[in-house]
Amino acid sequence: MKRRRFINWVGVGFVASSLPVAIAACQSDEPTSETPEPEPTEEPIAETPTPEPIDSTPREDGFAAMGRVSQLDEAGVVTGQTVAGDPVAIVRDRADPTAIIAVNSSCPHRSCTVKWDNEASQFACPCHGSTFAPDGTVTKSPAIDPLFPFEVKIEDDLILVKAS
Ligand code: FES
Repeated sequence: MKRRRFINWVGVGFVASSLPVAIAACQSDEPTSETPEPEPTEEPIAETPTPEPIDSTPREDGFAAMGRVSQLDEAGVVTGQTVAGDPVAIVRDRADPTAIIAVNSSCPHRSCTVKWDNEASQFACPCHGSTFAPDGTVTKSPAIDPLFPFEVKIEDDLILVKAS
């Protein structure tokens, strides 16, 4: 083989063997329209179903719907409604878990709204620290008078409270 022909063969061989490496180096890592999107790995977050609105208009017997038993059992308390302008808090009776209690959640000391503490199973006033048992009895002063109780009953899943 002559020298010039040998050099040509070596040159062609070098180019042919380097071609796949050169092509791979020129390709972009960015996804193209042909690149499939990766599948989402996380489960979609389940949405909390919004409870159906209830009609809290007082009935002829004086009772008004304040919430649902299912709502009470899920949250431990039902609040956010008023009876004759007074705020209502509804909880399970600690002595009889099948019964429920509704009280005026306006603190008798100076009218702050008491909050239900699920862990302590009591109402606590954020203003001056009074606490009340689920039935409204004072367990810690400065409040002297209990939370005012409302008459309450259950019909189907509805909790009905009567203004006194
Ligand atoms: S307003 Fe509730 S303790 Fe004072």
